[in-house]
Amino acid sequence: MQRPFIWAHRGASKFAPENTMAAFSAAVELGADGLELDIHLSRDGIPVVIHDESLERTTDGQGLVADASLEQLQQLDAGGWFSPEFIRAPLPTLAEVLSAFTGKLSLNLELKEFSTGVEVLSLLRQHPDAEIIISSFDYDLLKGLRSLNEALPLAVLFDDGNWRQAVRFANEISACAFHPADNLVCRRMLSACRKLGLPVSVWTVDRPEQARSLVRMGVSGFFTNDPGALLSARPTLVSPL
Ligand code: G3P
Ligand code: MG
Repeated sequence: MQRPFIWAHRGASKFAPENTMAAFSAAVELGADGLELDIHLSRDGIPVVIHDESLERTTDGQGLVADASLEQLQQLDAGGWFSPEFIRAPLPTLAEVLSAFTGKLSLNLELKEFSTGVEVLSLLRQHPDAEIIISSFDYDLLKGLRSLNEALPLAVLFDDGNWRQAVRFANEISACAFHPADNLVCRRMLSACRKLGLPVSVWTVDRPEQARSLVRMGVSGFFTNDPGALLSARPTLVSPL
């Protein structure tokens, strides 16, 4: 029996501030299969883990991530906005996440900007045992990465436009997975992916009932803020396919 793969979206972000070590460790403790994290570059070209291009929402800093040096970013509080319990939780670098979690679970590195590609590839060379997928909404970036490395596991994110074109693109770059937003999933999309042998993991799904119906339609993985909820329901997430 196939069981859906459970990715902790930005870590266990329902319980701890997104994209922090606390959220990633919580996901490991809950038994998630993988961590999803978002990558930007600091001004000095270091891959750092944060969702937005600007600092305001999830840190006590201001301005763009790309305008701050690593040293400045490491002084920020990336946890106090979530709850006082997490005050001064640091903003992690990708290198720190790779060192802490390689060998423990899979990592889905979502590259938020074109410029991250080459730096992330070079960092991954220092972590050859890391089990990773690289995903992006930036199809030029994915294409560029494929031309640099034919074995790299790449996943195509989809939240807008023509899903047929996006699935075709995923096939063209030999992607290992298709990652659509939950509200865009339809039977035709899943059937097209199945014909191409392309697994589909959907974001963001926190409710077991929604996961159950998507699994029945043929979805094989989820990105969730609440890995505990989907993991407890996993015995009931069964595909007839
Ligand atoms: O990788 C799935 C999901 O994280 C994509 O959207 O905005 O949450 O990074 P976002
Ligand atoms: Mg993401």
